[in-house]
Amino acid sequence: MIPEKYIEIIKSGGVVAFPTETVYGLGADAWNPTAIQKVFETKGRPSDNPLIVHISDLQQVSDFVEEIPELAQLLMNTFWPGPLTLVLKKKPAVLDAISAGLNSVAIRMPSHPLAIEFISRTGPLVAPSANTSGKPSPTKAKHVFSDFGDSVPIIDGGSTEVGLESTVLDLTSSIPTILRPGFISKEEIEQVIKQPVNITTKAIASPKSPGQKYSHYKPKAAVYWLDDKSELTNQNTLYLLQDAELKQSNIITYKGDLALMAKEIYDRFRQADVDGFHQILIEPLHKYTTHPLHSALQNRIDKAVEK
Ligand code: TXA
Ligand code: MG
Repeated sequence: MIPEKYIEIIKSGGVVAFPTETVYGLGADAWNPTAIQKVFETKGRPSDNPLIVHISDLQQVSDFVEEIPELAQLLMNTFWPGPLTLVLKKKPAVLDAISAGLNSVAIRMPSHPLAIEFISRTGPLVAPSANTSGKPSPTKAKHVFSDFGDSVPIIDGGSTEVGLESTVLDLTSSIPTILRPGFISKEEIEQVIKQPVNITTKAIASPKSPGQKYSHYKPKAAVYWLDDKSELTNQNTLYLLQDAELKQSNIITYKGDLALMAKEIYDRFRQADVDGFHQILIEPLHKYTTHPLHSALQNRIDKAVEK
């Protein structure tokens, strides 16, 4: 049971970090503009980057959304609670700070039992990933602590299961469009709604997906894709590979287990900084393009890679 003090902090307009199945979120009351302001300030987040509303009960959707299209209903029934965020036409009452001037709102029902308990006791929460803007999202309570110290109370739920942020699917356009790939893949969504889905992760300055134009997920160590000719001999480098036979503490091999790689990649990024690695070299994922987690991992690594 989550101690009452965390519920009280939210009710009095504060922020609390809590675990979801994807990454830790920085929660604040979705109906309190001052609390939402604190979220932006705490993270150092640009105010034109909108927030996801987190709910614990399907009934709450209609407080934020004008109408629930049939496709949305189908997806909610199939994937909620779980790591799928739906962008829908917002109700006028939704606070401007949440939707950053757009006429839509992003909404999801997380599946982590602590998230569901928390939200069912506080009411709907906005919750961006609980990291300082630009840093890798937190998948452990200690990551949140390392960004915010004592200034943010944390509900510790151990390591998060998925490790990458939710799939964001825009249902306000004529063709459903993935704005951020995640654990729920394009193919899984297409199977449920029985129509094609677009994916636009490169919509750099598009007002449709404001988050895409910001640099993300970057550790201090420089991240690069490994090229064929790289030798695995640099002691200041952390190597994230698939099939290497070498056994060295700075070489991690996943053998195609992209679920494990997704679960721990942000922790690897952050730990690399703690351990003093200068760079992180990652083997390209060409062999795994049909894996359901391929797009999500490729997208997050691309964003971390030095341009
Ligand atoms: O898994 C997750 O989604 C995590 C956990 C804590 O739930 N949350 C998360 O929130 O990743 P955040 O704020 O770090 O990322 C939200 C993304 C951003 O890329 C933002 O631009 C996009 O969702 N977004 C939010 N509202 C939107 C809207 N109305 N239209 C388009 N994109 C939106
Ligand atoms: Mg984030």
